[in-house]
Amino acid sequence: MNICAHPALAQALEAELRGGPIPFKRFMALSLYHAEGGYYCQPSPRVGQGGDFKTSPHQSPWFGRMLARQAEEIWSAMGRPASFCVYEFGPGEGWLAHDLLEEIEATCPDTLSGALEYVLIEQSASASDRIRERLSRWMKEAPALPGARLEAPGNFNLPGQFDGLVIAHEYLDALPVHILVQTGEGLAERHVELRDGKLSMCEGPLSDEKLGDWLIDLGIELETGQTAEVCPAAMEWTESVSRNLRLGGALLFDYGFSSRVLYHPSRREGTIRGYRDHALIDDPLENPGETDLTAHVDFTAILRTAEAGGLTLAGFTDQTHFLLGAGISETIEKSGGSGTKAAGERRGAMGLLDPGGLGGAIKVMLLTRGLGDAVFPAFSMKPGDRESLATLRG
Ligand SMILES: C[S@@+](CC[C@H](N)C(=O)[O-])C[C@H]1O[C@@H](n2cnc3c(N)ncnc32)[C@H](O)[C@@H]1O
Repeated sequence: MNICAHPALAQALEAELRGGPIPFKRFMALSLYHAEGGYYCQPSPRVGQGGDFKTSPHQSPWFGRMLARQAEEIWSAMGRPASFCVYEFGPGEGWLAHDLLEEIEATCPDTLSGALEYVLIEQSASASDRIRERLSRWMKEAPALPGARLEAPGNFNLPGQFDGLVIAHEYLDALPVHILVQTGEGLAERHVELRDGKLSMCEGPLSDEKLGDWLIDLGIELETGQTAEVCPAAMEWTESVSRNLRLGGALLFDYGFSSRVLYHPSRREGTIRGYRDHALIDDPLENPGETDLTAHVDFTAILRTAEAGGLTLAGFTDQTHFLLGAGISETIEKSGGSGTKAAGERRGAMGLLDPGGLGGAIKVMLLTRGLGDAVFPAFSMKPGDRESLATLRG
């Protein structure tokens, strides 16, 4: 039996499947995050050039540079405190942090630069090694400002009552999800089993009884045969941010929709997808450990959880409109860079803005606490997906 290429992952999967079907969520957790054979834990970089897919920080340094401006605005709205912590969850290769820190050093040398500490919380040990190298100049032992440090999620909790900014860039869509399916007899859950030596999906009872109320609470009714992914881990993360953020904001970038759009009957098979070699893989069970697995984010559920924890919605749009509102065109023009490198970076920025690509697909949400009526121009334009905006609160 050879269910995947990596022996340690194959062994772990087989050991669990021997006891019977496992919830898809458990399969996804092992496939992506098994310490040796998980997709994100193997030695080679998964994102960017030579990886399986490209995210915005890999597309152009203008992404991190524009986020530096956003961080500066939030810091200003907070009253420019002497200490400002940015927590980035799931930083991957660390390019966003690199470009943001470089920009803050260059544009705010005597102000935010001296207040900023950047904390990266990354699950993958191999990606963490590359981050350490990439950000070495900000990770010096003697406290350097801006400073940066790495944390492993197992040992890390957001500090209670912190002031600062949380960034989650394509983090929530990589958290393991349950797949629910509406059957004639009620709601069931997709499990993974071994059938004739091959990985296969089957339907079984809900692995957690709370899942039964998940869609009801959102006012969603699935059609018979329709599937839907739900992600309790994303809500736990949002709860933790809401519980601990005293003053500041959380900036979320991800593929996703409002609940109503996400769970519309036209999306009968849900949004769980695999990616390998820059190609979409329809069967999420194919080549575990070699295939990225991702599911779109339910921004209604995130917003409800955040508001229940006392956070305020300060903005919701898509990446194209976020970057245009933040002034990317004027900023690039003013930067006046010339030569091949600057031209390549500018071309990359077009990819960030493309409404048919990353620009339109990635939604941006800003949640804040204690920032009064601060206005953030990056959120002055509506997303192309007007329906998700109109139904964001259900
Ligand atoms: C889709 S990648 C995005 C990487 C990066 N943010 C980017 O946009 O290029 C998701 C990242 O989240 C990390 N990750 C997943 N679960 C995590 C957790 N619980 N804590 C910290 N990092 C996690 C993965 O290892 C991976 O590096």
